[in-house]
Amino acid sequence: MSQKKSNDDGLEKAAIGCWKIVVFLMTLCFYGAKKLEWKSLWFWYKQLVLVCAVYVFVYHKDYSFYNGFSFVFGNPLPFWFKLFFGMPLVNQLWTLVGLFWVGSLCYLGFEENRRYKTFQKAIDRSGLKTAIGEVPKVKKIIPTGEHRSKVIVETFGVGVGKFEAQKDSLTAGFRQTVESINLAEDKGKVEIYLCEKDLPKFVGFHELYSHVKEPYSFIIGQSMKGPVVQPIRSLPHLLISGATGGGKSVFFRSTMLSLLKSSPHLQLYLLDLKRGVEVKEFAELPNVRTAKDEVEATNILGALVKEMNRRYKILEKNGRKSIDPKRDKLDLIVVGIDEAAALFGKKSNELARQHIGELSRLARAAGIHLVPSTQKPVKEAISTETLDNLPGRMTFRMISAAASNVAMGGNLAKKLPAIKGRAMWTNGSDHEQVQAPYIDDETMNVELQVIKDEFENNERSNFQNMLKIEEDQEDLDAMTEGPSDES
Ligand SMILES: Nc1ncnc2c1ncn2[C@@H]1O[C@H](COP(=O)(O)OP(=O)(O)OP(=O)(O)O)[C@@H](O)[C@H]1O
Ligand SMILES: [Mg+2]
Repeated sequence: MSQKKSNDDGLEKAAIGCWKIVVFLMTLCFYGAKKLEWKSLWFWYKQLVLVCAVYVFVYHKDYSFYNGFSFVFGNPLPFWFKLFFGMPLVNQLWTLVGLFWVGSLCYLGFEENRRYKTFQKAIDRSGLKTAIGEVPKVKKIIPTGEHRSKVIVETFGVGVGKFEAQKDSLTAGFRQTVESINLAEDKGKVEIYLCEKDLPKFVGFHELYSHVKEPYSFIIGQSMKGPVVQPIRSLPHLLISGATGGGKSVFFRSTMLSLLKSSPHLQLYLLDLKRGVEVKEFAELPNVRTAKDEVEATNILGALVKEMNRRYKILEKNGRKSIDPKRDKLDLIVVGIDEAAALFGKKSNELARQHIGELSRLARAAGIHLVPSTQKPVKEAISTETLDNLPGRMTFRMISAAASNVAMGGNLAKKLPAIKGRAMWTNGSDHEQVQAPYIDDETMNVELQVIKDEFENNERSNFQNMLKIEEDQEDLDAMTEGPSDES
């Protein structure tokens, strides 16, 4: 009696064990099946090749593979082998395909399961938890494109801000770049966007310029999502900032070149208070004026304000809201200022500050756009009001979180890797890490010569003459008499 009971117990345990194995394999297969790319043609092609290969293998069972088995498993072959080859051909075929499928799905499921566990571990280790110790849980990993995925995490009340604060630990834990963290539609979950690829450490000007399709556009750089090109008219002003040596001047020059190349009717005013060294090659072009000292720069800004007022009158007269170069036969004007702090940082230069404030507020509709560049956009250099009117920000690496905050409204520029040309691109409230394009002096000169030749051969022309720059005596007096201490 007791013998029978222990036999029954043994059978029951074996049945439960088998069931557990089946459930485990089914779970693995389920995860594996989620990973399969059912819709890809390549997937079905591989299935076809597999069926053909199995068919050939079984059909030619006395061919070398079969003999190979007796070499491996010994002669006579084990019972399961005989069992298999004792079956009709079609059954053999299906058995092999079935085994292959279960094996592949289990393997994929195993890999996927491991991925879930790695991601969960990364979250556990980042220290994210609620006040009562609940740790956010990985719910789903969804591929969103090549090298990209989205991890959906149940938060149990841990806010997106806390996830953002742990971005570095999560990047290290996931071993992938965390591109962004958003609140999911279901408010109890967050979505963490990951990318397996890293940004390139270098990207050439021409590699990116081929993506400029619209007129009056320039290249921002290479982002994780691809090349970023920006039409200046929809920006409308751009602030370039970052610590010394990050790549501001290179970006400033590449931006001016992109604009020159892409814009059919453009006037460029370049103010470079480093005695014009960064912009001297541009001075040769008929649609470019450069200024290399304070007085010249202030006079140019004064002329631009006058032109802006004149254009506003034209708009008023025609009942229009903004200038369209083609329609109104007026050139688009871009004002580039390298080392803006050297111009606006001087207490004496109140007039230049006033002009730039006015332009940043109103010039957009008049088809005049500003591109100032500075190491630190402190209020002594650029007023807070002017800063508010510069929505496009290209911020290279900053040495302090405070400087990064002033420049782009967050500490992301402080966290940038120490790679030349690496910057945060901010348009409104969107931030994106980019690698800015590099252009060397020689290539720049060749490009500028092409544009110069186009003007000489009448292949290019402007609607207007360049602005008349008048010396403002009052302005001159103020600058020569007033204190000139730099902030
Ligand atoms: N996009 C880039 N890709 C690769 N290297 C770059 C890039 N931009 C700049 N560099 C390298 O970094 C050096 C410094 O760049 P740049 O003169 O533009 O810095 P900066 O920010 O203007 O510095 P400063 O504030 O001192 O004027 C360049 O000479 C160049 O070698
Ligand atoms: Mg510079």
